[in-house]
Amino acid sequence: CGDKGDDTGSGGGGDGKLVLGFSQVGAESGWRTANTKSIQDAATAAGYELKFSDAQGKQEKQIEAIRSFITQKVDVIAFSPVVTSGWDAVLKEAKDADIPVILTDRAVDSQDKTLYKTFLGSDFVKEGKEAGNWLVKQYEGKTDPVNVVELQGTVGAAPAIDRQKGFAEAIATNPNIKIVKSQSGNFTRAEGKTVMEGILQSTPKIDVLYAHNDDMGLGAIEAIEAAGKKPGTDIKIITVDAVKDGMTALSEGKINFIVECSPLLGPQLMDLAKKVKAGDTVDQRILTVETTFTQEQAKAALPDRKY
Ligand code: AHR
Repeated sequence: CGDKGDDTGSGGGGDGKLVLGFSQVGAESGWRTANTKSIQDAATAAGYELKFSDAQGKQEKQIEAIRSFITQKVDVIAFSPVVTSGWDAVLKEAKDADIPVILTDRAVDSQDKTLYKTFLGSDFVKEGKEAGNWLVKQYEGKTDPVNVVELQGTVGAAPAIDRQKGFAEAIATNPNIKIVKSQSGNFTRAEGKTVMEGILQSTPKIDVLYAHNDDMGLGAIEAIEAAGKKPGTDIKIITVDAVKDGMTALSEGKINFIVECSPLLGPQLMDLAKKVKAGDTVDQRILTVETTFTQEQAKAALPDRKY
């Protein structure tokens, strides 16, 4: 990257270490905690200096952190954007300062793709589709109406937008399956619970809950149990992530299906940081490899689940 030094990383570090500024969304979910750990562990293993900043779910804080990384002249900036829009100005500032940016986990909607070097993370539309396809299969050949409640992630966040889209596309193949309520639970267990409490009171017939992450699903399970219903039986539950708590609920039959979203992005991020600092060309989009889990598959995978 321009005049910032050689491959060994003589940019912001002074001691030759590559300096990576990372702005994290917050600590809203088990997924996020595992993601933070993966990035911190991988930075240590790679021998980088990691400047880690927690935005506590606020875009203003992320913009502030990125500006501070620019002022500190870090070698590479990476961040997981809270929401998709509103990044052009600060990304332009990083570009003008000749600091390469890597999008991690979540996308931005900037039209100018030269504002960042690459985007590492999952295909959230595909995750939504996997969830919807599973549901369509469950009701194959049946004619009764299927009422679905959707707990969305943070409004304006890429995973919320894309998981809604993919799921809607998949269930459109069966006109009996309808989303009767769709509300944000902000990706947290607490909001998943309170939002579901309200929905249970206002919605007489719920057959299925589709939650955009495990944490909201787990919160909703508490609300469903408190309402005297059996999660997984009276209401089928589909979630996304496959963190340990979600997988445990799946193995117990309280969740019926989980689409995996891997938080273990640290090692790939460190590798990319090294490459973009050296000025190497990297792919614009790097997709995370992931799978899906039924109850039996969750039981088999749980003993080795790291997060
Ligand atoms: O961006 C990834 C999503 O953010 C995860 O699915 C969710 O748990 C997290 O909060």
